[in-house]
Amino acid sequence: MFEREIDRIGSGSAKWDAAPVIFGEKDILPMWVADMDFQVATPISQAIARQAEHGIFGYPAESDTLRQAVVDRIHAKFDWPIQKEWLVFSSGIVHALHMIIKAFTAPGDGVVIQPPVYYPFFSAITNNGCTVLENQLIENKGVYSMDFPGLETSFQPDWGGFGPQPSRARLLLLCSPHNPVGRVWSKEELNQAARIALAHDALIISDEIHAELLYSGHSHLPTSMLGEDVARRTITCFSPSKTFNLAGLNASVLIIPDPKIRAVFKQRTAGFHATPGVIGLAAMEAAFRHGDPWLQELLPYLEGNLNYLMEFFKTRLPQLPVTSPEGTYLVWFNCRKLGLSDSELRNFMRKKAKVGLDDGYMFGSGGSGYQRINIACPRSRLEQGLTRIAKAVHDHMAG
Ligand SMILES: Cc1ncc(COP(=O)(O)O)c(C=O)c1O
Repeated sequence: MFEREIDRIGSGSAKWDAAPVIFGEKDILPMWVADMDFQVATPISQAIARQAEHGIFGYPAESDTLRQAVVDRIHAKFDWPIQKEWLVFSSGIVHALHMIIKAFTAPGDGVVIQPPVYYPFFSAITNNGCTVLENQLIENKGVYSMDFPGLETSFQPDWGGFGPQPSRARLLLLCSPHNPVGRVWSKEELNQAARIALAHDALIISDEIHAELLYSGHSHLPTSMLGEDVARRTITCFSPSKTFNLAGLNASVLIIPDPKIRAVFKQRTAGFHATPGVIGLAAMEAAFRHGDPWLQELLPYLEGNLNYLMEFFKTRLPQLPVTSPEGTYLVWFNCRKLGLSDSELRNFMRKKAKVGLDDGYMFGSGGSGYQRINIACPRSRLEQGLTRIAKAVHDHMAG
């Protein structure tokens, strides 16, 4: 079912329909934004069809059965016993990040992130008038880890000297699993990061949108499971949109265990915070309740794609070191040996290789000279994209 190449052109797809404009090339193969070229699980399509047949699309209500479906899923997948009243539904996670930062900061406050990281993190911070405090991940032979002394320093601004006062860090924005480097953080890593944030009285936003897209041997730990003290200071962002390919339906859910933080969030974002529509809610419930047989087939398919890519890079693109992800269908690779500037690399991928990828520099510090490729497509398409890259690289090296 994942082998079929489905034509998405004309379906209102950002990845495909907007690609010629975004990349400035007509015959570009889009392998960028994080959605999959696969049809969703049948129970999801059926739930959407039922809503469509009903034919009335009035204001939505989040049903008790939906809340229960979220509770059951989080419990079944992560052994985290959450409660229905902790849930706050949201249109999308990027929107939710904007709302959380709006609710819990004042302009000029700092928000700590660990680049290279999902680029809308930057704008969610700056659009709220806050300062991005970057604690760059450490890279060692393609494997990434958190810089804990650096993280500690991010929370301890230097108040001495002249010039404007540095921003005070109010929030730690975690990406777990981490897009684009594919790390599934260990309990020890999460614990160290969370303890540093708590010691400085910061809130933790834990974006766990990729939590269910893991490769063999890796398991995801929700940050809030580190302990009750952490859970009380953490807002978890969860969604079926990556796992079940529902990004276009704008339905996600925040898990906020602390009643005061939940109340403050709701009160300060009233009128701003957007919630999902009836179709998104129906799709979310169907995905969480009935999506697993499909997901059980998807995960080995993605792993097959990843293995294919790793072997391809090893044999045909040894010049470009690639980071093997532990989770996510996004793969991060190092193009620095091509000797190109960021704008040259961008043009190289677009105009020479004719693939639409995400440019590494957009992910902040540590991203320069890298590219991110989305492997959630039929293997034939992946093969085509990698072959285009390999040909362009070989021509470049030969020339
Ligand atoms: C870490 C992370 N958060 C959020 C999103 C987007 O979430 P949404 O589509 O719900 O705004 C993505 C999409 O790639 C992501 O990688």
